[in-house]
Amino acid sequence: MTFGQSAVAQQTYEFTLDTKKMGAPVQSTMYGLFFEDINFGADGGLYAELVKNRSFDFPQELMGWYTFGKVEVRKDNPPFDKNPNYLVLSNPGHAHKHTGIENEGFRGMGFKKDATYRFSVWAKKVNTTEEQKIRVEFINPKDEIIGSQELVINSSDWQKHQVIITAKATEEKGRLRIFFTSKGAIAVDHVSLFPTDTYKGRENGLRKDLAQALTDITPGIFRFPGGCIVEGTDLDTRYDWKKTIGPVENRPVNENRWHYTFPHRFFPDYYQSYGLGFYEYFLLSEDMGAEPLPVLSCGLACQFQNEDQHAHVPVSDLAPYIQDALDLIEFANGPVTSTWGKVRADMGHPEPFNLKFIGIGNEQWGEEYPEHLAPFVKEIRAKYPDMKIVGSSGPSADGKQFDYLWPEMKRLKVDLVDEHYYKEPDWFFKNAARYDNYDRKGPAVFAGEYASHDHSTGKQNNFLSALSEAAFMTGLERNADIVHMCTYAPLFAHVDAWQWCPDMIWFDNLRMMKTPNYYVQQLYAQNKGTNTMTLLWPDKKAVTGQDNLYASAVYDKDQNCYIVKVANTSTEAKNVKVTLTGTKKNAVFTVGDCIVIKNNNLKAINTLDSPTNIIPGKTTAEIDGNILNIQTQGQSFGVYKIKL
Ligand code: AHR
Repeated sequence: MTFGQSAVAQQTYEFTLDTKKMGAPVQSTMYGLFFEDINFGADGGLYAELVKNRSFDFPQELMGWYTFGKVEVRKDNPPFDKNPNYLVLSNPGHAHKHTGIENEGFRGMGFKKDATYRFSVWAKKVNTTEEQKIRVEFINPKDEIIGSQELVINSSDWQKHQVIITAKATEEKGRLRIFFTSKGAIAVDHVSLFPTDTYKGRENGLRKDLAQALTDITPGIFRFPGGCIVEGTDLDTRYDWKKTIGPVENRPVNENRWHYTFPHRFFPDYYQSYGLGFYEYFLLSEDMGAEPLPVLSCGLACQFQNEDQHAHVPVSDLAPYIQDALDLIEFANGPVTSTWGKVRADMGHPEPFNLKFIGIGNEQWGEEYPEHLAPFVKEIRAKYPDMKIVGSSGPSADGKQFDYLWPEMKRLKVDLVDEHYYKEPDWFFKNAARYDNYDRKGPAVFAGEYASHDHSTGKQNNFLSALSEAAFMTGLERNADIVHMCTYAPLFAHVDAWQWCPDMIWFDNLRMMKTPNYYVQQLYAQNKGTNTMTLLWPDKKAVTGQDNLYASAVYDKDQNCYIVKVANTSTEAKNVKVTLTGTKKNAVFTVGDCIVIKNNNLKAINTLDSPTNIIPGKTTAEIDGNILNIQTQGQSFGVYKIKL
């Protein structure tokens, strides 16, 4: 798409870019992604498994399943001790009756015509020497069969059986049905169905379209696995990384706190299978070229949910939590001869993951947080002095906790402080200069969770929210000497199963939609440059919203170009003239790629049916000697390259 230029003459706004003053390096980690299993982001989302409750180990053992005929839940001598339940399917006792099970998926299962799916099941025959069979079927809402295969079960010991099934039709709300078609009995566990076409073709893989959308951002940092799920409603249900590695069949199911966090958006079937666990998160980071940033529990259960101090681990009992952090570093970086390095190698990755960052605690506050964090810092520093530690400034962008925690983080000498802000668009516009006067001597900033919330539209991912983030982010970029990372939040939402909005990418079981907020993140990440440059008004002030203009600039030494970013938040087109000062006499500048995202309607959104309503498009600018002339359109954010 190309956006045209307005023919109407406008007032000209003049900025200077001093090419002699090369600024601080922009960190490779500057723009990234924050992933949490919220809104069915992992199970039912990025994790490509189509079967919900595949091992029958939800507390309600058959949640997600319908059974017919003779079906029994058993847990004696299970094949996987950490997921002990399994089913026995037996002859219903009459030739005209049937035994079987049916899975509803995550608000249905998405099947694509002619695509292939890998069905697998751990099974054995029970008390019979006869060969046993099942018929596996894909069913549409009209109860028509749109894919089917037979599978023979001929072993009296537990074995993994699998078959590839082709879908004959496209269906967003499909189901999986398994008919037991023999006369004896079989036991089944870990019933699984994946598309064969996953991201990077991995069997325990990720949904290709969603993982590709993440990769296409070109993120520099990948924070996982949350968010609040790190902390747990209680410590028993905190995210425990050691439970999320090894064979997927034996990763114990954990509750997902987002199933009950908001009673008005209650999702009793939301659990974590941990099929997407820490090994897979590290792999994804590597695939995307992003530095991994795992966040671990600091021994404080979610403080929003627990005023009672007894919910937390006393500092004197923190040793196993600290050991978890040290072991994680060994899992990621240790040699294959080390205990945890060997676990990683056995999972298929003998090379280290080169972990450089670790977060301790999510949104923590009060004196108990620095008290809990201090022993982590001490022991991580002692064993891994180069590891960069991320601490928290609590759940708000300012206020009592924030003001208390920042000095505490400085005292503890963490490397980065994680700040979170979910605020109105106006806050983002007004805070474009937030970091201009931050203390340069302390830890760096990680804007770890932020999003513009337009409450007037039910917090939709509308263009206003995206434009306000774009304007605000000129301030992140200008201050890249101390802002080393930033990640929008949350990342994913299933349209039929979300708890929180806005979110960067929305999806159903077949389709996905990138929001305007996604494109803003992508424009920054793809044009982050290597060094900050100073872009000023004639009065030497930074461009932070005066006359509804927000702007920043970087130099990219790999492409040998300057990149100017301008958000024009007024309805009027505005001419912007950027004079490059301090240039060599014979320097010749040309205009490189220029991209703009704009919309006349601030309330406009993308939807699954109209995913390209708001997308970036090419635009133009002119260069006259050392002067770049940009005609910014009203309500637009543009990225303009000047090549040397
Ligand atoms: O991003 C959603 C939630 O917001 C995160 O889990 C938490 O850290 C914050 O409160």
